Amino acid sequence: MNILLIGSGGREHALAWKLAESRLLTSDGGNFYAAPGNPGIADHALCVTLDTSDHAAVIAFCQEKTIGLVVVGPEVPLVAGLGDDLRAEGIAMFGPGKAAAQLEGSKGFTKDLCERAGIPTAGYVRARSFEEARDALANFKPPFVLKADGLAAGKGVVISETREAALVTLRDMFGGRFGQAGAEVVIEEFMEGEEVSFFALTDGTAILPIGTAQDHKRVGEGDTGPNTGGMGAYSPAPVLTGALQEQVMEETIRPTVDTLREEGMPYSGVLYAGLMLTSDGPKLIEYNARFGDPECQVLMMRLEADLGELLLACANGSLGEWSEAKLSNKTALTVVMAAKGYPATPEKGGTIELGEAEANGTKVFHAGTKLNGASLVANGGRVLNVTATGANVTEAKAMAYQAVDAIKFESGFCRRDIGWREVVRETP
Ligand code: AMP
Ligand code: GLY
Repeated sequence: MNILLIGSGGREHALAWKLAESRLLTSDGGNFYAAPGNPGIADHALCVTLDTSDHAAVIAFCQEKTIGLVVVGPEVPLVAGLGDDLRAEGIAMFGPGKAAAQLEGSKGFTKDLCERAGIPTAGYVRARSFEEARDALANFKPPFVLKADGLAAGKGVVISETREAALVTLRDMFGGRFGQAGAEVVIEEFMEGEEVSFFALTDGTAILPIGTAQDHKRVGEGDTGPNTGGMGAYSPAPVLTGALQEQVMEETIRPTVDTLREEGMPYSGVLYAGLMLTSDGPKLIEYNARFGDPECQVLMMRLEADLGELLLACANGSLGEWSEAKLSNKTALTVVMAAKGYPATPEKGGTIELGEAEANGTKVFHAGTKLNGASLVANGGRVLNVTATGANVTEAKAMAYQAVDAIKFESGFCRRDIGWREVVRETP
């Protein structure tokens, strides 16, 4: 079967790496394309130029190349409805259509769904004007959690300590700081606890858990400084115990999938639940309609099942034939190497020498890289994802940093404390 992968980051490199060994490709020598891909993905797939916001162009490409499965990495094409347009042409795609992708595309949509389905989450109010938001604020206690409703590249959440600061933020949001995404704002109750992520594949009816992970969102060590897309992650996250995972499946994931299906917007793809482990149990912070980046890298490092077959089963409604998405018991940990200046203004063009980084079984996924002649250079904020496995977080972390230290990337940096919460728990 021929496969098209859409995206260009470390998440997509990890997906490409696993897809390349899928029986979908190897059984009949199918072609594997990536649009636009990156130099790491180019080891596995033929990278092509394709404007993925032009759905007619994507359809034409799929028809010309007889693509049997389209796998979408990032959220933007999902929220834009690429899935609906491809499916209307009979092309199988992994990822939800526009209606179900609102789980990521509109925070208000998700909060309302949680209310209808009785899913544990923070109390909230949706506000469509500054005045409405200001009045609603009176019913909340600090710290105030303020969220632009739409997609804001992970930057749409502001937590304000005082009412005065919250009002300034609300003015900003309604003043256009996040463009259309801030035309509506969600105000939420502040939840206290540790954050953890849970991933599940679904075809709209059947659901298969595909692992847990913990991300490190802040740019600086000890979780300080501005928020980023994620500076590192590990999987599994033992803080989400087996019992808690079952609770999340029953109270959150299952009602989400059932409610969306019953309401005529079936969700197929991966559900990425961001959870807060509160004293009242796990509560949903948010949903994403895609794999996390860099969480996907650690999940793929552990996945033993055939990724292509799993994703195709989500796309064609046959996931119910699967009993599990097999993951190894090993721990995987990834360290993001970013370009200096990230997340504000990352330096482009810095040279990278990977050297012997992969010698110890570590995988270096490319995120923002490009080839400049024969040399590899930085071409984005997050540049490399150095990913290793071990018996526990402490071991995987040691292996990952050993590989980091073998890489020459003078205009890059990384956090040295990825996995710290779990390392503390593992230390006797
Ligand atoms: P989100 O984009 O919704 O995941 O929010 C980004 C980050 O803001 C989360 O990872 C949390 O650290 C924090 N956050 C969001 N909502 C809440 C909440 N209701 N209570 C406490 N922290 C929150
Ligand atoms: N690493 C966080 C995300 O992918 O949203």
